[in-house]
Amino acid sequence: MSRPSLRPEPAGQDLTGLAAPPDWTAVFGRPGPLELEIGSGAGGFALEYVRRHPEVNYVAFEWRKKYARETLFRAQARGYGNLRVLEADARFEIPRLFEPGSVAAIHLQFPDPWWKRAHLKRAVVQPDFSQLLFGLLEPGGRFDLRTDVEDRARRMLEILEAAGLVNPLGPLAFHPFDPDEVPSTRERRYLVSGQPVYRARLVKPSSEERR
Ligand SMILES: C[S@@+](CC[C@H](N)C(=O)[O-])C[C@H]1O[C@@H](n2cnc3c(N)ncnc32)[C@H](O)[C@@H]1O
Repeated sequence: MSRPSLRPEPAGQDLTGLAAPPDWTAVFGRPGPLELEIGSGAGGFALEYVRRHPEVNYVAFEWRKKYARETLFRAQARGYGNLRVLEADARFEIPRLFEPGSVAAIHLQFPDPWWKRAHLKRAVVQPDFSQLLFGLLEPGGRFDLRTDVEDRARRMLEILEAAGLVNPLGPLAFHPFDPDEVPSTRERRYLVSGQPVYRARLVKPSSEERR
């Protein structure tokens, strides 16, 4: 998506700032596996993913208004009723909006690396927030992580695996490129340029598996 102009209609205002989780079946008008995306950017992943997975109820968080509104506009224009976009800070909204054990998958692709040491605390993958995300996933729930920054990839894997997510390929292992996977907007550039992408697919084990 080239830089969109700011559309006037806010994205997801009916859902931001709620004190308790809404009834997501009512929000989407039908039941379905609930999946989240943190930092959906220009929305390339979200729009294609919901097209390929019409059964999923998908909630994307993007705090840049232009991108959030444009993604929602495109979803509506294409008739994708299974995508909601919230122009909000995912770290503040997610804890209020989802019940523990209710989320089937979390997608986090190319999160901002926050290069300055003083800004590192703004990174999405922190121990406390990762514990919270782990708690929101249902048993067997998936965490899809991608980044182009190798040391951040390793650090995020350490934190997410310490929170309880299991890496089926072995601790701290990256997942190979999968041509069937939907690429994010940023990832499309790297697939053309050949720049490395570090991927991981983590899973929340069932309580029996955790024993
Ligand atoms: C590098 S971009 C990647 C966008 C997209 N995932 C992709 O791969 O093309 C990271 C995005 O995350 C958004 N973001 C960062 N922190 C966020 C937060 N706490 N809540 C919502 N969005 C956030 C940024 O605005 C930016 O659009």
